[in-house]
Amino acid sequence: MRGGFFFAAAVAVPTARSMAMIHARSATLVLAAGLAGAWLLGATAFAADPPKAYLPGLTAPDEAPQGCVSCHKGSRNLKVMLDALDHRDMGDKIKVVPDDCKSCHEDDDELEALGPVSHSMHYARGSKSDFVVKHGGSCLNCHALSTGTGEVTTKSGPTNW
Ligand code: HEC
Ligand code: HEC
Ligand code: HEC
Repeated sequence: MRGGFFFAAAVAVPTARSMAMIHARSATLVLAAGLAGAWLLGATAFAADPPKAYLPGLTAPDEAPQGCVSCHKGSRNLKVMLDALDHRDMGDKIKVVPDDCKSCHEDDDELEALGPVSHSMHYARGSKSDFVVKHGGSCLNCHALSTGTGEVTTKSGPTNW
């Protein structure tokens, strides 16, 4: 934005060029001012368009520091949620969620991998998904982003049922 103004101002500074140049220069000035204006308008419209980012841990406190088990506890714990979906008995294999779910849900298995399973459970109804409505749909509810290394990991925590 400042670049645009600077450009317009620089063009307006009188120089010792010939009169023949002046017409061309004022045309350039009008063009430059127009461009700067369009740029400003564009920048304003753009700034108003996207909703404010909801990025737990970055732009807001992290409401789910342990991922799945931070949200799914008590009467909504994962065992209850999965029982409601007629999920098979997991026995007492699961100590850390979601890491230990991968004992069965591995990429190379017949079984759908844990990533796609988790994603479809939360985004299946698009903007109408409860997860999107109640929790901003942020990836950073389940994933953590290290701003230093740029590494993305999946949050986890001990079983709570
Ligand atoms: C920020 C909160 C939050 C986090 C974190 C979270 N969920 Fe959910 N989850 C929800 C909400 C909201 C729903 C919608 C159903 C409801 O209201 O309980 C849901 C639904 C589910 C369902 C049921 C889906 C259905 O169609 O019945 C399962 C299973 C589930 N989550 C598993 C997980 C797993 C596994 C993780 C971690 C990888 C996880 N959730 C992380 C909030 C969360
Ligand atoms: C003992 C193996 C095993 C473990 C451990 C396991 N799963 Fe599964 N899961 C399955 C199988 C097999 C299916 C396919 C449906 C079926 O046959 O039960 C499945 C299906 C699912 C589905 C899809 C349900 C549906 O109706 O679409 C979800 C969601 C799921 N698992 C989540 C989890 C989570 C979260 C964990 C960890 C807390 C977990 N699973 C641990 C075996 C396992
Ligand atoms: C409800 C929890 C949850 C949410 C929300 C979520 N993820 Fe994931 N995601 C997972 C889990 C669990 C895995 C599997 C991690 C593992 O295998 O160790 C995963 C894996 C992934 C992977 C690795 C490839 C794969 O599919 O396994 C990518 C890429 C990814 N997620 C991107 C995203 C993006 C982008 C968003 C936001 C649009 C998002 N995730 C939101 C739970 C979630």
